[in-house]
Amino acid sequence: MSKEPLANWNGQEMPLAEVRVSVLDRAFLFGDAVYEVVRVYNGKPFLFEDHFRRLKSSLQALQIAAESERIAERALETLANSHVSDGMIYVQVTRGEAPRTHHFPDPATTPNELVYVKELADPYQTKRTLGGRVLLIDDLRWKRCDIKSVNLLANCLGAEQAHAAGFDEAIFVSPDGTLVEGTHTSLFGVRQGAILTAPLGQHLLPGITRKLILRLAAECEISLQEKSLQRDKLHELDELFLTGTTTEILPVTQVDQLQIGAGMPGPVTQALQKAYRAVIQRECC
Ligand code: PDD
Repeated sequence: MSKEPLANWNGQEMPLAEVRVSVLDRAFLFGDAVYEVVRVYNGKPFLFEDHFRRLKSSLQALQIAAESERIAERALETLANSHVSDGMIYVQVTRGEAPRTHHFPDPATTPNELVYVKELADPYQTKRTLGGRVLLIDDLRWKRCDIKSVNLLANCLGAEQAHAAGFDEAIFVSPDGTLVEGTHTSLFGVRQGAILTAPLGQHLLPGITRKLILRLAAECEISLQEKSLQRDKLHELDELFLTGTTTEILPVTQVDQLQIGAGMPGPVTQALQKAYRAVIQRECC
């Protein structure tokens, strides 16, 4: 039987279903909050320090005065108490509750800090072997996508558009035809044996899995260039894949109606999948 998700709400452990929050919380009113998702394998968190480093920088960017180190300790404690083996840790920090004003509350409110741990039913298992299909959509987001905020409306609309059309993910494309990233994934292409991915900047999330891919490519001696993919050059690609905390490495065999490469997961993607599994084995098993 699956376990009930276990939460820690502002330092108090309780079942997730029992957490209550005010409608005046600024996350509810404005989406004024940041979050992280950490994968858990064999009861151990994967790439934990990287996720909390990014949480700290998101908090700083939005001037939310919460201590990421203390939340990290709570996350580990909640994970241990949950006895979840294969799952995820979700962390969200909001600016807190205050009467509704656009400017920050003055005096400042206390942030609301949520951690919860739950088991994960992996939705991508078969697609990681067979490959998935993605849809291209206009990038309607704001200009600070490097901050992992819960303001995800454009991401949700894009993901729904893909889902309703029977696709696995949607990719944001900027007006000049540059492929930026997925609604909840980073994007990589392979051309003539070399990997390509967009350089970091304020227009996309610095993916934790992306960072690991850069390391694995170097270890596997596969050349990698931080150079954006272009819509009008997609036909030149041999392989395409997505990465993310829960997605891991997902080969993409079709973009809109265009088949990528041979229409099946390619050797570079598969080599990285194998190397990725080896890191999980080493660090979590
Ligand atoms: N999504 N780009 C976007 C817009 C994302 O939301 C995510 C993660 C990624 C991949 O980042 P990482 O490798 O650090 O997971 C890229 C998380 C998992 C989510 O929203 O559930």
